[in-house]
Amino acid sequence: MNLKGRNFLTLKDYTPEEISYLLDLAEELKKRKKNGVPVDHYKGKNVALIFEKTSTRTRCAFEVAAHDLGMGTTYLEPSGSQIGKKESIEDTARVLGRMYDGIEYRGFGQAIVEDLAENAGVPVWNGLTNEYHPTQVMADMLTIRENFGRLKDVKLVYMGDARFNMGNSLMIACAKMGMHFVACTTEKYFPNKELVEICEGYAEKSGATITLTEDVKAGTKDADVIYTDVWVSMGEPDEVWEKRIKELSPYKVTKEIMANAGKKAIFLHCLPAFHDLKTKIGKEMGERFGIEDMEVTDEVFESEQSKVFDEAENRMHTIKAVMAATLGEF
Ligand code: CP
Ligand code: NVA
Repeated sequence: MNLKGRNFLTLKDYTPEEISYLLDLAEELKKRKKNGVPVDHYKGKNVALIFEKTSTRTRCAFEVAAHDLGMGTTYLEPSGSQIGKKESIEDTARVLGRMYDGIEYRGFGQAIVEDLAENAGVPVWNGLTNEYHPTQVMADMLTIRENFGRLKDVKLVYMGDARFNMGNSLMIACAKMGMHFVACTTEKYFPNKELVEICEGYAEKSGATITLTEDVKAGTKDADVIYTDVWVSMGEPDEVWEKRIKELSPYKVTKEIMANAGKKAIFLHCLPAFHDLKTKIGKEMGERFGIEDMEVTDEVFESEQSKVFDEAENRMHTIKAVMAATLGEF
């Protein structure tokens, strides 16, 4: 399979075979790394990592993966470049495309990363936008495969705000890979109709199903994967916290929900998570709203069923596969 020169922006333009190929490659690269077998024949290549929003996992995954492959990296922090302020995305893309072999972008609107990709002339990888988080769902898919030995027919229930990056990208990946995707949340937070229709098209071919439901009991019944994300995403205004906590509390992942899911069900979360309120913002919210957790209880997060740290590790292996495949024939 030859993915050289391809962008990685939404996953919509990747076939199920291409996604499986990338997951196989990630598995192989993970094995080699664990066995101490270097894969560093990308020496002489360099990648730019643009972050207009903060990050722990994505930045570290790109940096470690690039260094393992033998490449150099430049990290451009939220306030450390001219991008979008003094210089247009189009011009930035044309400059970086002359110096780098690939560009990662994390930021706000999807249109920005699309603009970058259109003008850079080198592969552009989406490291999260408001609308999509495709490198995250590659790690999620690898983690699911590691636990169930397959993706086909796995039932994944996404709980919480399904209108943004994680809900969208999980729905796309599940629809492509023949899985059963359920958005279990209040109707207001269902994914947008247009994207649901697109995914129904993928599902027709793959045998996947897409269900949108407000019913927690029915939605999570016999699920293989219960997935959630923060209720307030990066870049959203402070005013939304109160409303989200009120509206999404019935969709918090609890031990009762895990018990209603399948016997071998796992819990996934892209992280960072509000499973306890030990962080500065968590403490503030806890005091303001009299709560101890948000989208998932600490009990579920710390349970045997929780695979969130395997999932976080898999960010690195899957990002490495995406870069290796799109920068050269592996
Ligand atoms: N899951 C994820 O993208 O984490 P970061 O925001 O830390 O990169
Ligand atoms: N929906 C979250 C995902 C973080 C990885 C956000 O956009 O902040």
